[in-house]
Amino acid sequence: MSSSPNLYVYHHGEIILLQDAFLHISDLAVQRGYGIFDFFKIQNNVPLFLDDYLARFYESARLMDLSVPFAPAELKKVLYQLMEKNQIPESGIKMVLTGGYSEDGFTPAAPNLIITQQPVSLPPAEVVEQGIKIITYSFVRELAQAKTINYTTGIRLMKEVKAQNATDVLYHHNNVITEFPRCNFFIITQDNQVRTPGEDVLKGITRKNVLELAAKKYPTEAGAITLTDLAQAKEAFLTSTTKRIIPIVQVNDQLISNGKPGSVTLDLLQDLAALENQQAMLNVL
Ligand SMILES: Cc1ncc(COP(=O)(O)O)c(C=O)c1O
Repeated sequence: MSSSPNLYVYHHGEIILLQDAFLHISDLAVQRGYGIFDFFKIQNNVPLFLDDYLARFYESARLMDLSVPFAPAELKKVLYQLMEKNQIPESGIKMVLTGGYSEDGFTPAAPNLIITQQPVSLPPAEVVEQGIKIITYSFVRELAQAKTINYTTGIRLMKEVKAQNATDVLYHHNNVITEFPRCNFFIITQDNQVRTPGEDVLKGITRKNVLELAAKKYPTEAGAITLTDLAQAKEAFLTSTTKRIIPIVQVNDQLISNGKPGSVTLDLLQDLAALENQQAMLNVL
């Protein structure tokens, strides 16, 4: 993380400079990798789809038996205070909730809430124009519905992703596809159905938005997708808050269709961008 002297963070009940924010080494996040987080985007000073991200943050905390030290309305106030202080109109806010300062290195204690804000930018246009190559790997995230801080497998595989000249790695188990380490996955079938895995995935907010937008124009389904379905798909793409929609044009050694981003994918990206722009016009600050 950048240690820009001008960035403020929320830590231990206060808004302080990032360079002054420290967590004690007894925190369960350090000792055991125990914690959850969430991340949302701010466009034109407006936090996009904030209620959806907050709902997921509280749900992840519940699933990991961690209690958020604020009710949602109070947490929102803190978020707006931080945004006011930082003044970064195009940015992302990350809320991390850790297992706390554990006496014995295993038993959770009062959770620590850390909130940071950083500038973000969209993926370069050429990534969307060209699409990406991905590789596949057999793995299922533990407690997939929770946005935990455990990205061990994804981080460990980064070297292999690079070695294969790919951009990301798609998890599957017994031939059934789930998600990427940090993104959700979609295919467009030959008869223009928009499909995304329904089980063992994090319910991405971008996934939700794309499903709703797609349902206005195409048959849409959240259910099992196999590697064979992917091999026969007309188009494929990934979704996430920072990446929005990125077309996938190659899986391991196999091209998808003609190896170019598909028209339904690009159409949905336009719709998603329009939805985000529409939200960003509701400038509440
Ligand atoms: C495991 C996982 N799946 C999917 C996503 C995409 O979710 P969202 O669209 O809410 O960013 C993320 C985001 O970080 C993630 O960590």
